[in-house]
Amino acid sequence: MKAIKVINPGANSTLEIQDIPTPEPATDEILIKIGATALNRADLHQRAGKYPPPEGASEILGLEAAGVVEEAGTNVTKWKTGDGVFGLLPGGGYAEYCIMPEKMAMPIPENLSFKEAAAIPETFLTAFQSLIWIGELQRAETVLIHAGGSGVGTAAIQLARHLINARIITTAGTEQKLETCRELGADYTFNYKNQNFAEEINRTLGKNSVDLIIDFIGAPYWEKNIDVIKTDGRIVYLSFLGGHRIENINLAPILKKRLKIMGSTLRNRTESYKINLVQDFTNHTRSLFEEEVLKPIIDKEFDWKETDKAHQYMQDDKNTGKIVLTGM
Ligand SMILES: NC(=O)c1ccc[n+]([C@@H]2O[C@H](COP(=O)([O-])OP(=O)(O)OC[C@H]3O[C@@H](n4cnc5c(N)ncnc54)[C@H](OP(=O)(O)O)[C@@H]3O)[C@@H](O)[C@H]2O)c1
Repeated sequence: MKAIKVINPGANSTLEIQDIPTPEPATDEILIKIGATALNRADLHQRAGKYPPPEGASEILGLEAAGVVEEAGTNVTKWKTGDGVFGLLPGGGYAEYCIMPEKMAMPIPENLSFKEAAAIPETFLTAFQSLIWIGELQRAETVLIHAGGSGVGTAAIQLARHLINARIITTAGTEQKLETCRELGADYTFNYKNQNFAEEINRTLGKNSVDLIIDFIGAPYWEKNIDVIKTDGRIVYLSFLGGHRIENINLAPILKKRLKIMGSTLRNRTESYKINLVQDFTNHTRSLFEEEVLKPIIDKEFDWKETDKAHQYMQDDKNTGKIVLTGM
């Protein structure tokens, strides 16, 4: 099969479509002919040599895919050749074929194309896990979702609105991204580039008003996060796009406000954890995707021969929601 290989991982990496062996499904796995995959920020980190795949995972980029079952392992009971499926991958999505454990695969709702289904797994499952499993967001609580225009951000806003009915605050760096956040259900939006979001939140909602913060930015937001979080509040770290080292940090508020500070990476979770997550996510969201209450937000589609351009588009922070690759 053909797959995109990263040549010379690091600052000067390039991408090349090459012939590699088609993976063979184990007894409890399915082989999927990929119709679409989608980009994640992690792909850029992996390409730059900063985020190696977990042990045993494919070295090919790509954390999600949608397509058709081409072949089912001998113990597979849930799927047959020709079924439309989508799901998470530990790697291997930038290719013509991938393998997936049968229990990790989800059926594509009839109203969704491959392109739309491929834009769901990584961002929605990450957002679901962070808001509900880790952050334990409750109805009528207030959640602050940073990078609201990101793939994960656009999913988190929708889940916080439609599954929990929380009060939602988001930050982003352009007016267009903030507008999308509001359309998806955010109640308050702040542009971190020209507003001090902590001052604005304290002024608008009162001091110590945020129950849960979903943060991808890290160091530059630490003090502002601490400034707005409530007593008994929770902060979930998913990434450190703005840096992960802080000088002269004052830890006292962690005790004074009895904070829970947590971090997570979905990719290196065990297969059984991911299967349980996929099951719980499907139970909570399937009918909402069918009714189009929840929807993947797709910014742009690229032919996979133009993946380099797609990566640059993401690197330049141009996307609101997801970038998908098709044509494999
Ligand atoms: N831990 C996990 O399990 C997990 C899983 C999935 C994703 N993630 C992480 O979650 C983040 C979002 O992923 P994604 O694929 O949805 O990303 P994405 O669509 O590429 O969006 C990232 C956005 O973050 C904003 N941003 C970038 N650098 C920033 C900075 N220094 N300060 C403030 N904002 C910044 C930019 O939007 P603006 O225009 O608003 O600046 C950018 O468009 C990534 O960091 C990714 O690695 C973690």
